[in-house]
Amino acid sequence: MLVSARSFEEYRAMFALTGRDLDQRILDCPGGAASFVAEAGRRGIDAVAVDRQYAYHREELGLLVERETAFKRELLAEETKDYPWSWYSDADDMVARWIANARVFRADIAARPDRYVAGSLPELPFGDDSFDLVLSSHLLFSYGNRLGEEFHRAALLELARVARREVRLFPLMVYDTRVRYEGLERLRRELASHGIASRVERVAYEFQPGDNDMLVLSCADYRAPARAGAQAQAQAQVEVQTEARAEARAEARAEVQGWTRRGEADDPVRWRHREAARPRP
Ligand SMILES: C[S@@+](CC[C@H](N)C(=O)[O-])C[C@H]1O[C@@H](n2cnc3c(N)ncnc32)[C@H](O)[C@@H]1O
Repeated sequence: MLVSARSFEEYRAMFALTGRDLDQRILDCPGGAASFVAEAGRRGIDAVAVDRQYAYHREELGLLVERETAFKRELLAEETKDYPWSWYSDADDMVARWIANARVFRADIAARPDRYVAGSLPELPFGDDSFDLVLSSHLLFSYGNRLGEEFHRAALLELARVARREVRLFPLMVYDTRVRYEGLERLRRELASHGIASRVERVAYEFQPGDNDMLVLSCADYRAPARAGAQAQAQAQVEVQTEARAEARAEARAEVQGWTRRGEADDPVRWRHREAARPRP
């Protein structure tokens, strides 16, 4: 999965964020190498990012994303050749801006590490209602050809659990298919049965052609089933750390055994540029 790096202004357009929205405590899930939290911080906005990649190589992630984005330039240009280019002027502009955003992310994760939390959907290491507004860009629905409906169901309920007011998700089409995620209406009915009303809203942002709607979940009336409170959160943190340690051990073993490219298909960022990206003394 590509770890992308969109900007604050892109988030503002994707999620139709108003001044009132930005006055609230915001979670970006998944944050990837987006510069949203960094730029929000500069504006005095209280925002936090969570991503499964932050468990693995936080210090290198920005650099890895820069290199991976540059490496994929031709592929991205090919995949997007008939895109509307309403936000970026073309694929080169997109690549250049993602690289610039990844640099901003990289400086911020080093300067304000507590703003970047390692965590994996569908279990986030936050208490109920920890944030007023949760933003989720380019994971759910977008990767609907890889992530099953059960994952979506659990992830949406989890995002609603940590959101006091709203969850906003963009986009609604599966990447590179031009088709809206097939289970969307089924999932919306299920969310409604849990007291989570939803609406689809047109936004002034389009990446994939015709993909310019976001999903808004209203969470004020949602009470998640009790999750053994603090104990469950502590357990989730331990699991994230254990997973990261197991991953680091597996990676070290793989490097010793010369398998370093084996995981490339699953996670190219982690493998391809790791050696080159290692900070020089
Ligand atoms: C395409 S990027 C989107 C990043 C950012 N929202 C943006 O628009 O630039 C997808 C991100 O999802 C993260 N991810 C994948 N599975 C996840 C999970 N189960 N829980 C949390 N993050 C996950 C990946 O690490 C990656 O950074």
